[in-house]
Amino acid sequence: MGRNLTKLVFLVFFLRLLISSSCGESFNSDETRVCISKRGRFLPYESDGETPMPSSLEFKDLNLCKVFHGKTCCSASTLHSASLALENLATYGEATKDCLDFFELLECSICQPDVGIQSEPLRICASFCDRVFEACSDAYFSRNASNQDLVPCGASEGTIICGKASKWESNGTAFCYALGFTVQTAGDLTEEPCYGSKSSLEPVVETVIKTETFAWFQDLQKLVREMTLVQQISWVVTLFLIGTTVFNRRRYQQQIQAMIERDARRLMGNMNGNA
Ligand SMILES: *[C@@H]1O[C@H](CO)[C@@H](O)[C@H](O)[C@H]1NC(C)=O
Ligand SMILES: *[C@@H]1O[C@H](CO)[C@@H](O)[C@H](O)[C@H]1NC(C)=O
Repeated sequence: MGRNLTKLVFLVFFLRLLISSSCGESFNSDETRVCISKRGRFLPYESDGETPMPSSLEFKDLNLCKVFHGKTCCSASTLHSASLALENLATYGEATKDCLDFFELLECSICQPDVGIQSEPLRICASFCDRVFEACSDAYFSRNASNQDLVPCGASEGTIICGKASKWESNGTAFCYALGFTVQTAGDLTEEPCYGSKSSLEPVVETVIKTETFAWFQDLQKLVREMTLVQQISWVVTLFLIGTTVFNRRRYQQQIQAMIERDARRLMGNMNGNA
């Protein structure tokens, strides 16, 4: 009985934590700021000038950048080149699972809601570039003949030289620049935070890459984030009622059992007395 109560208290506490953390998130990002398209390797946002929104079905179908499906400036078209690059990396790049995960997070930078509403350019943290480079140093890339950008080796580029990332570049910063990104080093004194900083992305990176068992937690968190406050409250109340019912039923069963035992003992006592 005590254990059930502990479980219930934990569940309610956990849900409250979940809700307050998801509310805190939307509180942090300024609701009035709109998506600002980034130039360079990225196509303009279809939602340029609008606030970040939950991703479209078409975007969800791409099965990319899941961590940002809740709220983003991206649509499927924004990710066309990223999707192709990741497909090539997975098919021809001999990339490890870590490399694919990190590379996807890098390509998805454009879809992070905070990045979406930032002024240009899209800045990737040097420390994050180092992690991507570390994970992908043995994966195969080639240079785009027309703009010299680094791209994962693809089927159509059979005649172009393919080489490991570590053969093309010597560090993460150079790697990110070669991929067409702008890099922000720790020394830069910009007010806007960069993408992939410890505080902004580490929790996401850790949950996505290190502990996939937490996928359910993310789904749950996303679900809660997409609910309205009324829905969230009614959910907690429902769970609380279910918990209370289970708890009461247990107590009821235990009371019945105690009653039966008491009666049995009395009966035994009577029988002994009568004998
Ligand atoms: C190579 O660069 C050109 C010009 O920027 C671009 O149109 C093309 O899509 C790039 N190719 C690949 C495979 O990324
Ligand atoms: C990274 O590599 C580039 C090109 O090889 C070099 O110019 C730069 O100094 C290096 N940066 C660091 C932090 O090592």
